[in-house]
Amino acid sequence: MNKSSNNAPRLLLAPMEGVMDSVMRGMLTGIGGYERCVTEFVRISSTVLPPKVYYRLCPELKNDGRTKAGTPVYVQLLGSDPALMAANAKTVAKLGAPGIDLNFGCPAKTVNKSRGGATLLKTPELIFTICKAVRDATPIDTPVTAKVRLGFDDDSKFNSIADCAIRSGIDELTVHARTKTQAYRPPAHWALLKNVTNTRDIPIIANGEIWTPSDLMSCREQSACEAFMLARGALCRPDLGRAIKAHTDNVAIAPMTWPEITELLIHFFEENGARYERKYAINPLKQWLVYLQYCYPQAAALFAEVKRIHDPDDMLCALLGATQRLAA
Ligand SMILES: Cc1cc2nc3c(=O)[nH]c(=O)nc-3n(C[C@H](O)[C@H](O)[C@H](O)COP(=O)(O)O)c2cc1C
Repeated sequence: MNKSSNNAPRLLLAPMEGVMDSVMRGMLTGIGGYERCVTEFVRISSTVLPPKVYYRLCPELKNDGRTKAGTPVYVQLLGSDPALMAANAKTVAKLGAPGIDLNFGCPAKTVNKSRGGATLLKTPELIFTICKAVRDATPIDTPVTAKVRLGFDDDSKFNSIADCAIRSGIDELTVHARTKTQAYRPPAHWALLKNVTNTRDIPIIANGEIWTPSDLMSCREQSACEAFMLARGALCRPDLGRAIKAHTDNVAIAPMTWPEITELLIHFFEENGARYERKYAINPLKQWLVYLQYCYPQAAALFAEVKRIHDPDDMLCALLGATQRLAA
């Protein structure tokens, strides 16, 4: 089914372990452009996790499952045991998650050793069984979505992976347009999504290598998708969602300035410091600075200044120093 149209593209904020936490989701959805987000993955290995784990990973559950800007946050589960995944999905749905996403793309060795994430791409039938178990255990008005790659070593099973996921009754399918072996190396193979997008009845969400509004236009053209998930690009350019919407509406908007970005950096650091032990706010901040340098050369200078800082007070001083220098 070709859903190609002149409609504004739907934009989703990707799950990103270690950096796309509730504070980041709150900031980026506040800037605008995103229809929904997904939590970092929660690994399901041997039990039904207690509510406190889900509240920690997704504090938005206490706000009707939405960020402050009102954007729904789906909870992402990663695991290979259908019954256990279903039981956890049931808990998450009871806690009020607006939707549940299933991870079949994570390339991490530890995750794959325990038969979760991308390793499941080798066994599309197991993807079907997991998706179906979760769909059946979850109230029908709670959407269930899945996120896959094109395959494990190559893309020869992609059609079967997509079919198995879709046949289970899930509501939407995100495809990171690379195999597990291709990891994060460019390019993303958007054109390989087109056949699935045009012939299946659920929305297919394209993901991978969308850094600019014109990347999104190329991806749309090649994949025939109308929905797109942004990951690293959204961190490099915090207003990317808003910029894409403006681009498709033919409206000119000024990109965020470095002083505006430094305010976000301080907010990210302080809010995370208030949520966890303060020292745990340091690494996500450094990680974000690494992404920001692609769009803001000032971020590279700030990263060089803070990369050896391990003390939260020193980090805050460095961030405040950067804003004071700007004001001087
Ligand atoms: C640091 C990092 C963490 C990620 N964590 C997750 C995750 O928890 N769940 C998931 O499904 N994908 C995860 N991904 C994959 C992204 O959601 C996305 O599929 C990938 O980065 C490709 O999109 P991009 O080219 O726009 O970055 C992660 C990627 C990165 C770089």
